[in-house]
Amino acid sequence: MTTATPDFVPGLQGVVAAETRLSSVDGQLGELIIAGFPLEEIAGRATFEEMVYLLWYDALPDAQQLADFQQRLGAYRDLPGYTLALLRAAAEQQVPAMDALRMAASTISLRTPGEPDDDQRDALALVARFPTIVAAYWRLHNGEEPVAPRADLSHTANYLYMLTSDVPTDEQVRAMETYLNTVMDHGLNASTFTARVIISTESDMVSAVVGAVGALKGPLHGGAPGPALDMVFEIGDESRAEAYLREKLERGDRLMGFGHRVYKVRDPRADMLSQAAEKLYSADGDLQLYQLAKYVEDMAVTLLEEYKPGRKLQTNVEFYTALLLHGLNLPTDLFSPTFAISRAAGWIAHAFEHQATGRLIRPQSVYTGERNRQWVPLESRK
Ligand code: ACO
Repeated sequence: MTTATPDFVPGLQGVVAAETRLSSVDGQLGELIIAGFPLEEIAGRATFEEMVYLLWYDALPDAQQLADFQQRLGAYRDLPGYTLALLRAAAEQQVPAMDALRMAASTISLRTPGEPDDDQRDALALVARFPTIVAAYWRLHNGEEPVAPRADLSHTANYLYMLTSDVPTDEQVRAMETYLNTVMDHGLNASTFTARVIISTESDMVSAVVGAVGALKGPLHGGAPGPALDMVFEIGDESRAEAYLREKLERGDRLMGFGHRVYKVRDPRADMLSQAAEKLYSADGDLQLYQLAKYVEDMAVTLLEEYKPGRKLQTNVEFYTALLLHGLNLPTDLFSPTFAISRAAGWIAHAFEHQATGRLIRPQSVYTGERNRQWVPLESRK
């Protein structure tokens, strides 16, 4: 009797592998709902702390709940000496910031005496310490001493403060917070799936998040905004855009910041971030760069349709992430780690949800190798 071969779906495209109340991604309509809120309704209004609370507890906090949550989260901001020692060693070797973040995130499993050994504590410590780790590493990487976190600043303001030692303006905080809220959760993307797979084995929260950082690092997921911005800089002027993009496409290169596995129309996060970038650049930036980016975007979408007809390759979140974060004076090396600072809260929300409702994730594979091979003793092998 032969057993039926299960269908193989490359890249698991279109396969439904979880039920979630956390976010809904409609790739045809270009619609993103986060915990019941259309993205446009919430991303520009909520604070980072409100957004995390919403994802973890499925409701916006009242004033007392928010104050308690801010206090509990803020209590974990400081980095223990052993985490700083690791970051110093990583800085000596000038490792990429995502690798430093992944290694330092593992140290969150170490507890001070009396600290609870549970996923709630790990969840708070992970979200609270990610900005401190990224900022401290970046300063060490550049030969500067880390700036200690300030308890009187919000999560977002404190991140910007620790990078530069300057207290950011309200406009800068709003722009960064809009970014962090926009990318906090996005269905079953590769890193979120990674976190769910790990937690589904009844592993722990730190392991789930560390694995997810590894998945986010790749350029097909969270690593695209740096190259997307480099492309705009290399183009430099509208008159060069078409020739530059054509040359790339003729060579078979991918245009970073375009195309998405799910969205076949413009990514709604690109709209959100484009508006936030326009506001930021109008206030204190270089509106010329914003206008050049818009021109490059239009030209890229037109040429992608010409070179890849019917693939519906549209602007994704990474393109305007690059512009917005550049407007906040972040170097390209910090784009992916900043994405992780936000998405960590989403990974954790998915891990909690999976712990409550999910099963071990264990798909199958189709065997394509040989059968009935015969053992050959070592001395007889050629
Ligand atoms: N530029 C040029 N061609 C592209 C691009 C692009 N950005 N994206 C896809 N294509 C082409 C592919 O070459 C392929 O062409 P073919 O059918 O002639 O072989 C076709 O479009 C389909 O591409 P796939 O790789 O099968 O699409 P998939 O759904 O696997 O990929 C992905 C989605 C990885 C995002 C892809 O569009 C890409 O590489 N984009 C550039 C990198 C990027 O912006 N990544 C960030 C994504 S957003 C995020 O994860 C947060």
